[in-house]
Amino acid sequence: MRDLTPRKSDLDLIEIASRDEIAALQLDRMKWSLRHAYDNVPFYKASFDKAGVHPDDLKQLSDLAKFPFTTKADLRDNYPFGMFAVPREQVIRIHASSGTTGKPTVVGYTAKDIDTWADMVARSMRASGTRPGDIVHIAYGYGLFTGGLGAHYGAERLGCTVVPVSGGMTERQITLIEDFQATTIMVTPSYMLAILDEYRKAGLDPARSPLQVGIFGAEPWTNAMRAEVEAAFDMHAVDIYGLSEVMGPGVANECVEAKDGLHVWEDHFFPEIIDPVTGEPVADGEQGELVFTTLTKEALPIIRYRTRDLTRLLPGTARSMRRMEKITGRSDDMIILRGVNVFPTQIEEQILKVQGLTPHFQIELTKDGRMDKLTVHVEATAQAASAEAKAASAREFVHHVKSVVGVSVGVDVTDPGGVARSQGKAVRVVDNRPKET
Ligand code: DLL
Repeated sequence: MRDLTPRKSDLDLIEIASRDEIAALQLDRMKWSLRHAYDNVPFYKASFDKAGVHPDDLKQLSDLAKFPFTTKADLRDNYPFGMFAVPREQVIRIHASSGTTGKPTVVGYTAKDIDTWADMVARSMRASGTRPGDIVHIAYGYGLFTGGLGAHYGAERLGCTVVPVSGGMTERQITLIEDFQATTIMVTPSYMLAILDEYRKAGLDPARSPLQVGIFGAEPWTNAMRAEVEAAFDMHAVDIYGLSEVMGPGVANECVEAKDGLHVWEDHFFPEIIDPVTGEPVADGEQGELVFTTLTKEALPIIRYRTRDLTRLLPGTARSMRRMEKITGRSDDMIILRGVNVFPTQIEEQILKVQGLTPHFQIELTKDGRMDKLTVHVEATAQAASAEAKAASAREFVHHVKSVVGVSVGVDVTDPGGVARSQGKAVRVVDNRPKET
């Protein structure tokens, strides 16, 4: 893998500013953002008034803890445009969540917001090792999802040649990567695995592909998965994080030279970690739920948004801005199996330890009498697809899960191709337990 560390002189000055400079900028911007939300969004006026706080009460950054949280339900209750803080005519773009449960959550952007977003994705890409002039293959979905267009504007801002492929038609993805000689790919990690399969199916060696950088996000993935993809493609695999309510991709990103967690772009997004049960902020270094306050967003300022993502904050390394550890999972995805918390990422780590298994997997929950049962459907590799090899892989996997995660799980090792492929965000957990009445 080539050393793609960006030159210090190419970074935004704030990325390597002192903590004092960053904090001073954050305080100014936070004051503006709270006032902007309070003055222009009836929801925020009502929620601040109810909590007995006013934007003038923010004298230092830690005063933010006095302000109430915002949740996905609040966005739904104000569907579609009730959270906008500017006249609708100034909103030049709408995105929305898929809304699998209930109404989608709608977000909006002014021209300045789109500009800031492009800057943050460009900064993220530069941190990932992408350079102006690179050919960038974008396989995140285009449309209401923020992945495709978010990546697109950032890649243009950095000065790249953009190939806006979107998701799907996996064979064609390979043809385009090879024919256009793409050097960066932006895609969900699970869809990257489908692309890897397709390379092998086509009889091509992925390590000889032109790709040098993969910028993967929109779903949790592990360092074990990083090692797998980096080895297969001989490329850097870097983590990008974001969410539509806060902006989209580019809220935080890893640096290619360190790959030690994601630097939060704190000049625009203020992170906190809270105890998910009590709602109290916890100290940096402690695990909890990630909460974001936007500092510059015009159309949709968001104050103390509860992301449901679990991680912890760590001091800066390659940049002055704090890092968040790779996301363990969402509190919604946490499975409690006989009293033990299990995340799909933990299952992924154990699968990748077993030579005869591929990283394609899905977790199924069922009931066995009164007990919950967890079964992992996972594919065998082509080399280990015989009945004996599958049984050996299954035994090894169950043993790893028992000794590392601490629970007994069932496993169904399928033939290659037996687990549905993701073309965007993978569905990791299927809950087939009878609904409680
Ligand atoms: O997934 C934005 C995005 C697009 C990020 C492309 C990165 C790349 P939403 O659809 O609103 O937005 O989903 C946001 O996805 O709260 C996390 O649970 C999850 N997520 C996003 N990035 C990561 C990541 C986009 N790098 C939700 N690691 C978030 C783990 C992630 N989970």
